Parts: sequence; structure tokens; C-alpha cells
Amino acid sequence: MHKDVEKILLNQEEIANICKNLGAKITEDYKGKDLLVVGILKGSIVFFADVIRNIDLDINLDFMVVSSYGAGSTTSGMVQILKDISVDIEGKNLLIVEDIVDTGVTLYNVKNVLLERGAASVKICTFLDKPSRRTADITADYIGAEVPDEFVVGYGLDYAEKYRNLPYLGVLKRQVYEK
Ligand code: IMP
Ligand code: MG
Repeated sequence: MHKDVEKILLNQEEIANICKNLGAKITEDYKGKDLLVVGILKGSIVFFADVIRNIDLDINLDFMVVSSYGAGSTTSGMVQILKDISVDIEGKNLLIVEDIVDTGVTLYNVKNVLLERGAASVKICTFLDKPSRRTADITADYIGAEVPDEFVVGYGLDYAEKYRNLPYLGVLKRQVYEK
């Protein structure tokens, strides 16, 4: 275990199961429909790669970079699109893949932008949900796991761009971000 991690919340086996179950549900729900899976970079990359390989349908992929967090651990409440989807989404079914829904501000804004562009549907698949911190009116359609109000890292999630490559999800020691 990494020295900055206090405890492991989800190990590799548990994460693999989560992705398998989510992929099966998504496969079921979108049978016979077109599907564009949109990953929100960078946090979702590891989860995205695992979930799409559990979707047994013909799908398209794209990515967005949005920013609502600086280097710190609390939200600024602002969302900026730094990299946009490169295809026309009018009439398409979109599935946004995100690492974690915290305040929900990021996804609330992203979802509205995509609906305004004429997407037929926009659903959300998140690896983690932190409902205790929600301020925006948004609920994910597919949720891997619920986490308590603690700062988590690994499996794509970072603190100041570190720890994304840890193969498990861990709670970051408070002293790492409180100094
Ligand atoms: P929201 O707009 O507050 O829902 O923020 C969502 C974004 O904040 C996520 O995509 C993450 O990048 C980041 N975030 C929120 N909580 C955590 C956490 O516990 N660990 C790592 N990143 C987090
Ligand atoms: Mg993120």
C-alpha cells in the first residue's frame, strides 16, 4: 500500500466486479440503441477502460476535459470545458463516464450543455458517489460504489495529479492535504 494511503476502500477484485456488473446493466439498457460513451478526463480513464470492455454492444467513444477543481481538495463551483467532444451529438444517446460525483456541480453543468446540443438522452455512469456532499440537483444512473465523505485516491482519482495509477481505491491520509 502507498505510504500516503490510510486504508483501502476497494481492492482490485471488488473493482473488477463493480465494472462487470455495470457493464452488464448498460448492455441490457442500450440493446438495439446507438451509444456514445463520453469519458471525463482525466479521472475516469481507468474506470472508463474497464467499463467499456464489459459493454457487449457496438459503441462509440469520445472524451471531454472539464475543470471544476484546482490543485486542492475542495470544489470551486465553476465548470470550464477545456476539451470538447469532437463529433455531432444531435439525436445520440450519450453515457457520461465519471470518476466521482461529489458536489455534482461538474456533471450538472456538463449534462445540461450536452442536452442543449440536442442529444437524445444523457445518462451518467460514475465509479463513485459521495452523496453527503451533493449541492447540485443531479443523480447518476449507474453507480459503482458509494463512498463516505473522505478524500479518496487511486484507480484514476488524484490529489494534485498524484496517485491516479494506484490499482485500488484508498483513503488519502489527512496530513497529506492538511499541511
Ligand atoms: P463535483 O463537481 O464536486 O461533483 O466534483 C467532481 C470532481 O471532483 C471529480 O471528477 C473529481 O475529479 C473531484 N473529486 C471530488 N471528490 C474527490 C475525491 O475524494 N478524490 C479525488 N477527486 C475528487
Ligand atoms: Mg474528475
